[in-house]
Amino acid sequence: MSYFADKQPLVADIFSRYPASPQGRRSALMPLLREVQNAHGYVSEPQMAEIAALCGTTATEVRSVMSFYSTYHTVPTGKYHLQVCSTLMCSLAGSDELWDQLVETLDVQPGEVSPDGRFSVQKVECLGSCGTAPMMQIGDEGYYENVTPSKCARILAALHADAPPAPDNLVPVTVNAEGRQTLANGEMVGASIGGLSPLTGGAA
Ligand code: FES
Repeated sequence: MSYFADKQPLVADIFSRYPASPQGRRSALMPLLREVQNAHGYVSEPQMAEIAALCGTTATEVRSVMSFYSTYHTVPTGKYHLQVCSTLMCSLAGSDELWDQLVETLDVQPGEVSPDGRFSVQKVECLGSCGTAPMMQIGDEGYYENVTPSKCARILAALHADAPPAPDNLVPVTVNAEGRQTLANGEMVGASIGGLSPLTGGAA
C-alpha cells in the first residue's frame, strides 16, 4: 500500500496550507517529504513517485529537491545518524580527523548502515555552530560541539551502550502540530505560527 493511501485527511490538511493552484500543490512537496522521512527515516523511490504524483511533478524533481537538503535521505539510516560538519571552520578545527575516526571506528561509509543497525554517517555543510568547531549532529537531537578525538570516543562508547549523552546544544528548528517552535527537549520557544493565514496566491 502506498504511504499516503490511508492518510487522506493529513494530505488534505497539508494541501490546505497552500494556494489551490499547480504551484500551490508543488509547494506541499516539503511537508510531504518530511512526513515520510519522519516515519521511515528515509524516502524510497516508490515514495518519491507517490509524492510527485500528489504534487503534480516528477519523481526526478522530488529527488532533485531532496538532494539540496542534507536532512532528507534516499537510503536507510542507522539508529544513530552521525552528521559531521565539513565546512571551513570545522575543517580547520579538525573535522576531517573526526570524520576519519568515525568511519574507521565504526567501519561504515556514507550510504551504509553498520551491521548492528546502529550507525550511519554523513558529511554536511555548515550547521551554524562554527564557534564550537569541530561539531557534529546526531539525528535531529542536537549539536555535539568541540568534538575532540577523546570526546568522540566517549560519545561512540555511549551510543554503543544505547545511552546517548545529552547534546551540548539543542536544535530550535522543529515546529509542532500547534504551530509552535520547539527544542528537541519539547521546550517551546518563539511565537506560534498557528494563527497565520494560509498563503492565498493573490497578486503581489
Ligand atoms: S563550519 Fe562547521 S558549523 Fe559552521
